[in-house]
Amino acid sequence: MSPIRPSILGLTHNGIGRVSSLGLGQPDIIPLWFGETDLVTPSFIREAAKRALDDGATFYNHARGMMALREALRDFHKRTADVDVAVKRISVPGAATLAVVTALQCLIETGDNVVIVSPIWPSIFQAAQAVGAELRFARLDDDWQASPQRWRLDLDKLFALCDARTKAIFVCSPGNPTGWTATREEQQAILDFARRRGIAIISDEVYGTLVYNGSRHAPSFLQIAEPDDNLFVINSFSKPWAMTGWRIGWLVHPPSLDEPMDVICIANNTGPATFAQYGAMAALSPEGDKFRAEMLQRCRTGRDIVQKFLDGHNRIRWIKPDGAFYGFLHVDGLANSFGFARDLVLKHRVGVSPGSAFGPDNEVRDDSYLRICFAQDPERLGEGLSRIEKALSNP
Ligand SMILES: Cc1ncc(COP(=O)(O)O)c(C=O)c1O
Repeated sequence: MSPIRPSILGLTHNGIGRVSSLGLGQPDIIPLWFGETDLVTPSFIREAAKRALDDGATFYNHARGMMALREALRDFHKRTADVDVAVKRISVPGAATLAVVTALQCLIETGDNVVIVSPIWPSIFQAAQAVGAELRFARLDDDWQASPQRWRLDLDKLFALCDARTKAIFVCSPGNPTGWTATREEQQAILDFARRRGIAIISDEVYGTLVYNGSRHAPSFLQIAEPDDNLFVINSFSKPWAMTGWRIGWLVHPPSLDEPMDVICIANNTGPATFAQYGAMAALSPEGDKFRAEMLQRCRTGRDIVQKFLDGHNRIRWIKPDGAFYGFLHVDGLANSFGFARDLVLKHRVGVSPGSAFGPDNEVRDDSYLRICFAQDPERLGEGLSRIEKALSNP
């Protein structure tokens, strides 16, 4: 008998990985498949990291992130979401991906379940699977009849999925891939329910500042929760500052985890790279705020380009995203998003993610969708879209 846990042996590549492996790095492909902009990290951030290296910052450091960085993150929360978060609730374990794993480690024992609002970035549920959780999905309804059309969260459906073995409700807002953004009322209802039932909330807010309604931050669970609530908030430097390769993000957690978090962070990675932390501190400066505004503008332009493209197209539509930088495009008549995404790479040289990657295998609704990242150079984005159009008219 194998000593390896069946939930680990059951892990297989998700649809994003399978499609991108067909053409990753090939220069004639327009890559819209990953959650990242085509901009290089701004030079003031790179320079700060280089300086740190030149100054000899090559040693182990605080496993939960340097105190100056955690203090700067506290200020960031104050500045963007108007919330006071005690520094002892902030840990920088490595990237947001590791923050997700860390939160799950705090909550899950084999046989417990996590209820996840989907469609959702697959690494989230694969991480939950890896720690031994049973996965339950509360899919948003794509409400095409509403005006404006919207993603609708059915709270009754979400709550009905919870039982005595539910340890966490996972909500990503603004969402990847939908751009759906939870309202304050929806968050309050989830918080009230979770409190009553002793369930934790894991709120992925990595796109919290990438919103299009002019506000500084999407509604955050931090704005309505008490410090002692069982709330874990995931955040990242990857998206607003174009730092995906730096592998640095952070986690806000209950204060009761202050000491355990020291130990977990040592055990998991002993913190992020030291020079990356200096880059992250530069990102949190006023210059970094300015860059975030430019990035938001780039995303807004990308969103407009996709909207214009869809206006002239009768087979593809979307529910216009309120936040994040993805187009989750519904293609009428499409029933095999992986097959179509594969053909787009191999024949038409444009990389997209298949909708089927963003939920369980039996969720047929997601198979009519493709995800693109529109935080791209406008010309390249336009060319990528016209390649998708060509593929539809000439498969
Ligand atoms: C919702 C969500 N959470 C977390 C992450 C991971 O962020 P990081 O690059 O910091 O691991 C991503 C990246 O795509 C994401 O979309």
